[in-house]
Amino acid sequence: MLTSDLKGKNSKLIRGALNKTNFREQSESLFLTSGFLYESAEQAEAIFKGDEAGFQYTRYANPTIDTFEKRMAIIDGSESCFATASGMAAVFASLMCQLQAGDHVVSATALFGSCREVIKNIITKYGIEISFIDGKNIENWKKEIKSNTKIFFFETPSNPCFELVDIESVCKLAEKSNIKVIVDNILVSPVLQSPSKFGADIIVYSGTKHIDGQGRTMGGAILCSAKFREEVLKPFLRHTGPCISPFNAWTLSKGLETIDLRVVEQSRNAEKTVKFLSEHNKVKSVNYPFSKSHPQYELAKKQQKMGGNVLSFYIKGDKKTAFNFINNLKMIDICNNLGDTKSLVVHPATTTHRILTDEERNDQNIFDNLVRLSVGLEDFEDIKDDLDQALIAI
Ligand SMILES: Cc1ncc(COP(=O)(O)O)c(C=O)c1O
Repeated sequence: MLTSDLKGKNSKLIRGALNKTNFREQSESLFLTSGFLYESAEQAEAIFKGDEAGFQYTRYANPTIDTFEKRMAIIDGSESCFATASGMAAVFASLMCQLQAGDHVVSATALFGSCREVIKNIITKYGIEISFIDGKNIENWKKEIKSNTKIFFFETPSNPCFELVDIESVCKLAEKSNIKVIVDNILVSPVLQSPSKFGADIIVYSGTKHIDGQGRTMGGAILCSAKFREEVLKPFLRHTGPCISPFNAWTLSKGLETIDLRVVEQSRNAEKTVKFLSEHNKVKSVNYPFSKSHPQYELAKKQQKMGGNVLSFYIKGDKKTAFNFINNLKMIDICNNLGDTKSLVVHPATTTHRILTDEERNDQNIFDNLVRLSVGLEDFEDIKDDLDQALIAI
């Protein structure tokens, strides 16, 4: 059956974009091969020239990776996708494939540590100018536009304090000045938010998060228009080589078959966890976009289908209290990944956001008593009991 004959997104994610062999395999085939053979030197020439269709080399393209890319485009609602070795490879390539010395990038300040490092300290080495702004306020984006501004970059909601950027307003503004918008949509996954619907040009993902969601493989993806993929992204990625392994692409394709169910169920668990933590006497406050107390609650409701499975909270106390709480947990693991079936906890100030200066962390409300929790698929009673006993014991 053709993918285009299927009506629903989940049917397409489960049965779509197959590259079947003659062996009548039931599962997606895994082409664990670096290269592809040619019948003749003439055929090799024709395929390299583009006169004949065909796979050449896995750094360029591979049927298993092709299935993953097509399924990513389906779930994200974008025209096309290029898979990468990790989320950071996707972030870096999405910027560098279109920038050159003298260009200017405007980025929201509230970013994951490695993204901030790439924008602040790595791409600036190549003569690219950067402005960091508080992305919550549309006026800040407007004020920073210059004749050489090429890209707006932001994460929404941001990791780990859930600041939101109004995707539609920023995209409308960018369009007027011919600026490309890159959205890091990792925190809530393509199940809960589709930035392309609001006008985003490029969307980036980390595969280890909800896409795999089971702690197995690295991977990343860049979603964009077919034209941008062909003309800008493909030449850059083929020759610089941050390609995904076919095995990882296969694992991630299998992850996409269940992502919808997992993310919705995990988000339901997170909503209950938010309520429980908000009422706990050892907790000062909780950061979660779908909490009525969130200052951008209305925007969250507009952009996101649910609040997502990740939340963060301030414990009453200091770094030592936060560490004690984390160390007291019996079931929930200490891990900096997120979006996994297993509930995971991390202390952002000393791990994922350690690379920021003290001032930058303070600006983003990443204080020493902040804990980030990625709620998994365990039964809520067990998640609650573990959190409760760890909080009571601090
Ligand atoms: C918001 C955000 N962006 C980018 C990344 C990088 O993804 P990866 O670890 O796959 O390189 C992460 C990883 O934690 C993240 O949370």
